[in-house]
Amino acid sequence: MTGGGLPSYAVRTEIQDGVAVLTLDVPGEPVNTLNRGVRDEFVAIIDRLERDASIEAAVLISGKAENFIAGADIEEFLPLETAADAERLSRSGQMLLDSLERVRVPVVAAIHGACLGGGLETALACSYRIATDHPKTVLGLPEVQLGIIPGAGGTQRLPQLVGLPEALDMILSSRNVRAKKALKTGLVDEVVHPAILRQIAVRRARELVRGTRRPSRGATGARAALMDRNPLGRMLVLKKARETVQKRTKGHYPAPFAALRAVETGLARGSAEGYREEARLFGEMAVTNVSRQLVYLFFASTALKKDPGVDEPGVKPRPVSKLGILGAGFMGAGIASVAVQQGTLVRMKDADHARVGKGFAAVRKVVEERLKKRQITRTQFEDTLALLGGTVDYSGFGNVDLVIEAVFEDINVKHQVLREVEAVLPEHAVFATNTSTIPISRIAEAAARPSQVVGMHFFSPVHKMPLLEVITGEATAPDVTATAVAYGKKLGKTVIVVNDGPGFYVNRILFPYINEAGRLIDQGAAIHEVDRALVDFGFPVGPITLVDEVGGDVASHAARIMFDAFSDRFEPSKTLDAAVAAGRYGRKSKKGFYLYDEKGEKGGVDESVYELTPAGAARSEFSADEIQQRCVFAMLNEAARCLEDGIIRSPRDGDAGAVFGIGFPPFRGGPFRYIDTIGVEILVQQLDELNVRFPGRFQPAELLSRLARSGAKFHPAGSRP
Ligand code: 3HC
Ligand code: NAI
Repeated sequence: MTGGGLPSYAVRTEIQDGVAVLTLDVPGEPVNTLNRGVRDEFVAIIDRLERDASIEAAVLISGKAENFIAGADIEEFLPLETAADAERLSRSGQMLLDSLERVRVPVVAAIHGACLGGGLETALACSYRIATDHPKTVLGLPEVQLGIIPGAGGTQRLPQLVGLPEALDMILSSRNVRAKKALKTGLVDEVVHPAILRQIAVRRARELVRGTRRPSRGATGARAALMDRNPLGRMLVLKKARETVQKRTKGHYPAPFAALRAVETGLARGSAEGYREEARLFGEMAVTNVSRQLVYLFFASTALKKDPGVDEPGVKPRPVSKLGILGAGFMGAGIASVAVQQGTLVRMKDADHARVGKGFAAVRKVVEERLKKRQITRTQFEDTLALLGGTVDYSGFGNVDLVIEAVFEDINVKHQVLREVEAVLPEHAVFATNTSTIPISRIAEAAARPSQVVGMHFFSPVHKMPLLEVITGEATAPDVTATAVAYGKKLGKTVIVVNDGPGFYVNRILFPYINEAGRLIDQGAAIHEVDRALVDFGFPVGPITLVDEVGGDVASHAARIMFDAFSDRFEPSKTLDAAVAAGRYGRKSKKGFYLYDEKGEKGGVDESVYELTPAGAARSEFSADEIQQRCVFAMLNEAARCLEDGIIRSPRDGDAGAVFGIGFPPFRGGPFRYIDTIGVEILVQQLDELNVRFPGRFQPAELLSRLARSGAKFHPAGSRP
């Protein structure tokens, strides 16, 4: 029987033997969020649960196939102007969930799919939680990733349920947990197969009414509460957490500290104070620039997930069920490791059996990591590896849909393998190259079907780096681009589509930055100071450390190609060239700008490298400001040129490419968001000043000068990615 009486927007209410089954299904949206309409409807439903004597219990379940509740509606954060506005939003969410927690009847949360942020906070306010044992079912509080804190009671209820250490781990790391782990920590009470979720939830609701089952207190609840009530134990856990956060965020992200404060207040002064502090800090965080940039990046990523990569309407990607990989080296094996994990049948070719074997071992190692972390079962591990086949000839390439080439970075080798493989490929197969520097159109010159050649530039290590650059050559057909984009997304990558040109986008903006760091060393700056200034700016590692990691030979080769293409402003650093000539290739040769021990562990700067610099062993002082300005502005200027030259399609792609490809500080939003923050006029003025000091290197991009004159921004206020 359907319980009428209330106008329904997103919640369907059915009453079964006194149990109200509330099915949340926000119309027209792929996921459920707790938007204003849903919140209003919940108020009315809770009122009904309170008053309607025919209802003895309730079950909250989702009508979406693969989502419980994705949290608060992040769109609603965009118009928030003041901390007080945001605090009010949090307060109203807290009050709603408080009334859910106190409602007269027991409420069971039946969770299938993502249960995140405000979604988990809703489940925490229920009397009992059941989750499905499905890979899509994950529970988490990802708020700090958006620069905010859980604002609907999460900082108070979660520690009470699962204990302080586990709660801090979830809140501060934004890590999602799966159902099995959630059961272990007491976050959920039961795990069931999706097919019986509703049935079990209704049964448990009745048991709660009859008193044959008690409302949940969490599996670890009693023990954890005991420990958390001990002020000394609590202080130690909080102190350790604060130190870890400081180390991880390097002070750039205020939200984890705010979350810690809210948790601590609740434990020390009671939950009423805790809720007040949570709302206040939510308000403060929601209007920080950091949160604005992180929310922007969230929308940029979701927009990219939907972007087919081509403008032509009606273009369909070709299906890819079998993949061929040429070259079982570092990148080839990396690509194979993510492909088999997505269920693609992979055939990997190299020149001899030993190298194929090495590639196999590398793939195995990546998949084994997941087994060790218990993210997959042994059967899944074996099934995954069974998808990988190896060869030293082209056998098995006659029925692949896509080939990704990752052989040596040499145009002759690339041409040779392209000719060879095309002769055996089926007509429809796409040939993608993972080259990092050679123009796609040049590689396609050897192709019989150049329209089927495209670039797929992965980043190393492939299984960890989130970006894929898809590069269209002059002849690349739109459906070929769409195929590379769709397959890249299937591999879990954030994909940007860029036009052909030396360095494409990511390497093109990276090299002016690395070169400038090298030139600072040429002039006498200390290596560790250059690295430290840029880590302080927010990069994950400094540029000189990066060169040691990538390999000085690889970096120097790419730098030379960029210099040949763009001349002056890409002039490589003399120190970098000299270091490579002296065999200092970085970590892999255990000799670079830094010292490495026998095991390859990095130590301090190798001072002997200074002998190779034009300035000699003597070092001079450079302020962190100057280091940051010269290196970062060179990158920003080049990013603007990439937009001007049509290498990238939009500032959004440029921001996402830099953040996900090279770790441009996310809290700055990406190069284009950062330019908007500085102000284009100011940037142009400072570039002009630098250009006087270093002629030719900092000439502002024409686009920047134009924007400075018109006063426009890359991301006008209120625009959505
Ligand atoms: N608010 C607004 N829109 C959201 C949203 C949210 N919380 N979660 C997802 N969406 C939108 C996306 O923008 C996208 O919109 P589009 O179709 O217009 O592009 C659409 O839903 C589908 O999203 P995805 O493409 O990301 O779908 P997936 O299936 O790949 O992933 C998901 C689903 C795992 C739920 C993922 O979207 C996600 O991680 N969402 C964000 C979760 C989150 O951060 N929640 C916390 C919100 S803050 C909060 O709750 C504060 C509280 O403490 C008060
Ligand atoms: P690698 O040297 O580790 O692997 C290359 C593999 O290709 C070797 O195993 C080699 O035996 C094999 N090979 C050479 N000729 C072959 C042929 N005719 N048939 C089959 N296999 C052949 O090199 P790596 O680092 O994997 O680079 C491969 C490609 O990926 C290059 O084009 C490189 O520019 C690009 N790339 C590299 C990145 C990196 O960080 N290493 C990042 C992004 C792209």
